[in-house]
Amino acid sequence: MADKKAQLIIEGAAPVELPILTGTVGPDVIDVRGLGASGHFTFDPGFMATASCESKITYIDGDKGVLLHRGYPIEQLAEQSDYLETCYLLLNGELPNAEQKAQFVSTVKNHTMVHEQLKSFFNGFRRDAHPMAVMCGVVGALSAFYHDSLDINNPQHREISAVRLVAKMPTLAAMVYKYSMGQPMMYPRNDLSYAENFLHMMFNTPCEIKPISPVLAKAMDRIFILHADHEQNASTSTVRLAGSSGANPFACIAAGIAALWGPAHGGANEAVLTMLDEIGDVSNIDKFIAKAKDKNDPFKLMGFGHRVYKNRDPRATVMKQTCDEVLNELGIKNDPQLELAMRLEEIALTDPYFVERSLYPNVDFYSGIILKAIGIPTSMFTVIFALARTVGWISHWKEMLSSPYKIGRPRQLYTGYEQRDIVELKDRK
Ligand code: CMC
Repeated sequence: MADKKAQLIIEGAAPVELPILTGTVGPDVIDVRGLGASGHFTFDPGFMATASCESKITYIDGDKGVLLHRGYPIEQLAEQSDYLETCYLLLNGELPNAEQKAQFVSTVKNHTMVHEQLKSFFNGFRRDAHPMAVMCGVVGALSAFYHDSLDINNPQHREISAVRLVAKMPTLAAMVYKYSMGQPMMYPRNDLSYAENFLHMMFNTPCEIKPISPVLAKAMDRIFILHADHEQNASTSTVRLAGSSGANPFACIAAGIAALWGPAHGGANEAVLTMLDEIGDVSNIDKFIAKAKDKNDPFKLMGFGHRVYKNRDPRATVMKQTCDEVLNELGIKNDPQLELAMRLEEIALTDPYFVERSLYPNVDFYSGIILKAIGIPTSMFTVIFALARTVGWISHWKEMLSSPYKIGRPRQLYTGYEQRDIVELKDRK
């Protein structure tokens, strides 16, 4: 909706009138699409002040610590919903009724297996490959297996690709883990819930099928819900950008996985545990806190701070509660690494450097601790984030393709050479 206007005064040129668009909630945005006619572009590296698209999926108020999916607060979804229900909500815009939910769960379960031939793809990787390296490969490879759902202009194809991705990600993630362990890959079990099935494929073997702890399955489901979507973050924007060229959904999700891998984004939960290892002992904390504050030292306290949340990360609050439940269930009390983590949390919540910069523990701080307690190796943490975020990525991809869109093509401020002529090789200095 555009009823207000902004006026841009450019020295020596006529003023430019720009419409101001108003969303449902959140700040108004200045529509700069017409600015090109004045011979100018906007400059905003890192998208610090730029809305790259219009979306109805997720709303974040970073100052108030609010995260809504289709209007529902994340805390309510974590308490009163489950992951597949949240998936339905993100993909379709509304929570399902009982019949719709049963149908959706059954459809997802129908697609949990992957093409048998995909297994041989794994053999091309070293067993010690980083699981995210394998995920980038095998998810991209899905495009080579499901040719019957690749027409991005066909809404039914888009739908089936979305379901396939949500259904197959746990299977692929567990296959990656089993491959790294040298253990046989486990087939999915459709009598289990989404989270139980994932833990079954991760930790059971053909010779020993152990029951899945309901507390751990609930914690896993919560981790999935809390990572399901997060508006236009780096990986989601990557998926949209890849999708805007008309690339197929599996290729777009592989691009999202690559963007998620970095330690400033999804790689942070792994980086938290690596950092705790590096600090080693509570007695070294002061030294590392000083490093984190030192502008000449690249060290950062992983799991603290957020680009958008400058008050608190609402996901972290729920995750902390789940963290306590899991540690209690597993009887973990005197773990030195945990003690270290809790001491860091205390410092970050009280030390003026962290308080003034609003560097609160983020979701990855607690999810890293939970995943470690469940027995998931550190290198798998980002894979689990990717598994959960797939529904967010594919929801944004579907949303973009469902209405008119343009290929994403940012401009630049060029600061290189002006045009110059090539000097012959013999005359070059
Ligand atoms: N440790 C120490 N100092 C920090 C940290 C940190 N973790 N994060 C930010 N700062 C400082 C930064 O040096 C700067 O100080 P100054 O104003 O004196 O120059 C100030 O705080 C503002 O930071 P920024 O880098 O401008 O903030 P940003 O919005 O560009 O970066 C961030 C956000 C998440 C990349 C960053 O806080 C960070 O690298 N945190 C650690 C990595 C992490 O935990 N990432 C996971 C985010 S949650 C998962 C997700 O949604 O992807």
